[in-house]
Amino acid sequence: MVDLLAQSPVRLAPMASFTNAPFRRIAVRCGSGFTTNEEIDAEALLAGSAWAAESARQDLEVGPVAMQLLGNSAETLVPAAVRLVEAGADIVDINMGCPVPKIVHRGKGAALMRDVAATGRILEALRRAIDVPLTIKIRGGWDDCQPNAVEVARMAQDAGVDAITVHPRTRAQRYGGRAPWEVIAEVVAAVDIPVTGNGDVTSLAEARAMMATTGCQSVMVGRAALGRPWLFDAGYESLSVDGRAVYETRVVGEHLDLIEAAFPPRTALLQMKKHLAQYGAGRPEARALRAELFAQASVEALRETFRHQQEAAPVG
Ligand SMILES: Cc1cc2nc3c(=O)[nH]c(=O)nc-3n(C[C@H](O)[C@H](O)[C@H](O)COP(=O)(O)O)c2cc1C
Repeated sequence: MVDLLAQSPVRLAPMASFTNAPFRRIAVRCGSGFTTNEEIDAEALLAGSAWAAESARQDLEVGPVAMQLLGNSAETLVPAAVRLVEAGADIVDINMGCPVPKIVHRGKGAALMRDVAATGRILEALRRAIDVPLTIKIRGGWDDCQPNAVEVARMAQDAGVDAITVHPRTRAQRYGGRAPWEVIAEVVAAVDIPVTGNGDVTSLAEARAMMATTGCQSVMVGRAALGRPWLFDAGYESLSVDGRAVYETRVVGEHLDLIEAAFPPRTALLQMKKHLAQYGAGRPEARALRAELFAQASVEALRETFRHQQEAAPVG
């Protein structure tokens, strides 16, 4: 685990419906360390959901991979984790940070931070059941009245967890306001296991700043990498404007090819629209481009629309 983290100081963060296998492959090609899949619901996996099974199969092909599970009990998380390890997961990660109401209302995601003792028992059961590294991804706490990241991190260390990722906003803060990096430093000071920091990092320089100011061993980058996977490439900054345009066009093309190969046509179309809108975000005409992309009915028309836009004004 320590070796894998040392080789992967800056990595793509998991983001549901974006960081599927095609985008994770692209991020790794650009320079991201090992990646985590978008969350898979343990119950759905055990119930035989075709989406969960197919997404896990594709995720496992992009090794090394931390397979992230959502769940609220050892009864579902343990067999789901065992199944993923048997299928080849290098790391099992438990999502303890998802703030989405329909998830937390079922006691999953960030809700696991509320009952520390019960969650400790789940993590102990997982620890006994699997022999690959077990990691967790937490928030600063449930809300500002319960900022318990340090308590949860200590409990996790005692339960045998190998490493912790901290996104220091509380569940109540969702994605608003500044991510309070000092919470990451508090967790680093409280435990001996490796800590990964996460929150509002938009460049390799900022990732280094997060490591320097908080003492975390590695960093995950989420939203800033959508439409900009080349931020993981240390060589990108030194390219000329033309060099960047060529690089970006190649990356976008490879990404579209991977999406087309991975999904059935309707899913591929939607995935391409979402990612192309991200690649186009930040341009002056981003809003119009997004509308135009989402109006397209075929993969070919979508590629053509983006190609025209790129010729008019390269990404970047
Ligand atoms: C659309 C979206 C989906 C996300 N899905 C997940 C997920 O499946 N698992 C998870 O642990 N975190 C998820 N997150 C949280 C991110 O991994 C990350 O912690 C958060 O975006 C803060 O990092 P950033 O400021 O670099 O984006 C998601 C975030 C976004 C924006």
